[in-house]
Amino acid sequence: MFEEKVKNADMGLTFDDVLLIPSKTPIEPKDVNVSNFVTRNIKVKIPILSSPMDTVTEARMAIAMAEFGALGIIHRNMSIETQVNMIRRVKREESLIIRELYTITPDTTVEEAERIMRENNIAGLPVVEDEKLVGILTNRDIRFFRGKKIKVKELMTRDVITADEGITLEEAVKIMHKHRIEKLPIVKDGILVGLITAKDVLKRERCPHASRDHEGRLLVGAAVGPFDVERALALEKAEVDVIVIDTAHAHNEKVMESIKKIRKKIDVDIIAGNIATKEAAEDLISLDVDALRVGIGPGSICTTRVVAGIGVPQITAIAQTADVGKKYKIPVIADGGIRYSGDIVKALAAGANGVMLGSLLAGTEESPGREIIIGGRKFKVYRGMGSLGVIQQGISDRYGKIGKGKIVPEGVEGAVPYKGTVGEVLTQLVGGMKSGMGYVGARNIDELQKKGKFIRITQAGLKESHPHDVNIIAEAPNYPMS
Ligand code: XMP
Repeated sequence: MFEEKVKNADMGLTFDDVLLIPSKTPIEPKDVNVSNFVTRNIKVKIPILSSPMDTVTEARMAIAMAEFGALGIIHRNMSIETQVNMIRRVKREESLIIRELYTITPDTTVEEAERIMRENNIAGLPVVEDEKLVGILTNRDIRFFRGKKIKVKELMTRDVITADEGITLEEAVKIMHKHRIEKLPIVKDGILVGLITAKDVLKRERCPHASRDHEGRLLVGAAVGPFDVERALALEKAEVDVIVIDTAHAHNEKVMESIKKIRKKIDVDIIAGNIATKEAAEDLISLDVDALRVGIGPGSICTTRVVAGIGVPQITAIAQTADVGKKYKIPVIADGGIRYSGDIVKALAAGANGVMLGSLLAGTEESPGREIIIGGRKFKVYRGMGSLGVIQQGISDRYGKIGKGKIVPEGVEGAVPYKGTVGEVLTQLVGGMKSGMGYVGARNIDELQKKGKFIRITQAGLKESHPHDVNIIAEAPNYPMS
């Protein structure tokens, strides 16, 4: 019986076990479109998610990811309030229409108005009486005015140029240029409901491919613990776009019961995981989740496979779960183990709709990890969410609890080389993805999944794949030497 069990064990493959075969193609990499759905309802131009880890994604990373057309998932190793504030920060960052406004009344003193502007770093204030917009006071109105005791109504501009809800970026630009104004209040039945500023318009024009919600605000996700209903509700209230139910083993009955409860209480898209088998994919999809997060133990900082002896090599895990995902039209996110852009192409060809990255983004300027110098070179700290440091500091429900005070970590703490900005890293990754899809002859991810054929390789093939028999004298941005 045991001999049979071992003899009949399935073969599991991972990134280094396979390559994609090139084929005849009329397609140039520049013609390739990598956009894709990463959850049932969220489509992004770049199907890359940043991991919800405390050395990878906080507000700054999420803003950079969304501005580039990708998606950041803010980690949960912080209080609900702090996480909610981070979501709000991302949502405010580039909204075309600001909704939470500072306003003044005609009877506010100019001195007070100036103080509000100075303290909040804003250059103009709408003037409101009984919720109706009656004027606007900008720096221009008061720049050369010296007597401070006067009221706003004596200096404000009364003929305010306004616009309706639903105005587009292009229309706003036209109006602001025509009237040479920097602030455009949005009014509904005379009542002030929002404001467009020149600063935000210019920012929007800089990032035309950004991931945005229906109001033009940046998209952002956040992680919650498997039993943290309160956090999920608070995040939904803060208008997060997607919630990741973050657990090491989502195919656990208690976790699944809780996912079911969370699903009933919230409407935002849910990514559930992690899983690595088709049975788990079937079971989670039956709970009405909107995407699956796949990967047990492939991560660069993970020790689950060696500590627990558990896991499924990642290409096989992706393929198995993606077959189920495709059946129900539920996207699969390949999470962990991705070291090069080529791994992303392989993950997508094996059936993933998008990928989640930890180590590849942890070394960027925008990650929250601490900078350190080793041997004269700059590094950033990167640690597993099941590492000793994280468990001792806060999260202890993901891995490693076997009773009071006893900790069995399933991750390590390390450092990755500093890599510049998220924009620079994503440019290289997307370039590699487009190149790979060009070799296969795939215009988009759907075609990559249909046309991409794998070949299994040997250790000798892997050795041949990397630079060999040379001393590298210049480091390439997409092939770092650590
Ligand atoms: P990469 O390879 O991109 O992997 O650095 C990131 C993913 O690793 C998972 N993760 C962990 N897995 N122990 C684990 O077994 C850990 O301590 C740990 N921390 C993170 C997670 O899925 C992440 O997205």
